[in-house]
Amino acid sequence: MDLKKQLINRLGFFIRNCLLISVFGLANLSVADDTISINDKIYSAQQAKIGEALYKDNCLICHDKKYFRPVFKTWENQSLGTFFLVMSSSMPEDNPGSLSHQEFIDILAYILKLNRYPSGKQKLPTSTDKLNLIAITSRKK
Ligand code: HEC
Repeated sequence: MDLKKQLINRLGFFIRNCLLISVFGLANLSVADDTISINDKIYSAQQAKIGEALYKDNCLICHDKKYFRPVFKTWENQSLGTFFLVMSSSMPEDNPGSLSHQEFIDILAYILKLNRYPSGKQKLPTSTDKLNLIAITSRKK
């Protein structure tokens, strides 16, 4: 891809991203103490394993495993549901919509693992309503 095209692509992505956040981010997640966050063991290790294989096949070519660390910083205090929506509607960049809802959920579990958030017994909820109630916060040490 030449540089100009790449820049136009990025700009398009940015605008789409802003639109999605302004439409869906208005729910205005209040990050009070009783809010569930991605620190609360919201995915299982087994689910992240399934996501890992999908990630290798569909995402790794453009995003190395460290890509999501700085990305999550920019998403702090937003909902996991909005992140999911942006990701599942625009990625993989060369073929958006080529994966199923469930496949994106499993990939999301793997991204949480890549960012070293703790896993537990439960799997990630598949409903976006539930994901909307989960806050992206910095990792508790
Ligand atoms: C062909 C290359 C390509 C592939 C494949 C790809 N992406 Fe992306 N992705 C991009 C580009 C370009 C951006 C725009 C942001 C940037 O410049 O890094 C992006 C952005 C993102 C963002 C938003 C980051 C932010 O700053 O908010 C997420 C999340 C994401 N990708 C996840 C995925 C996932 C998950 C997959 C696999 C299902 C995937 N991508 C596959 C190229 C790709």
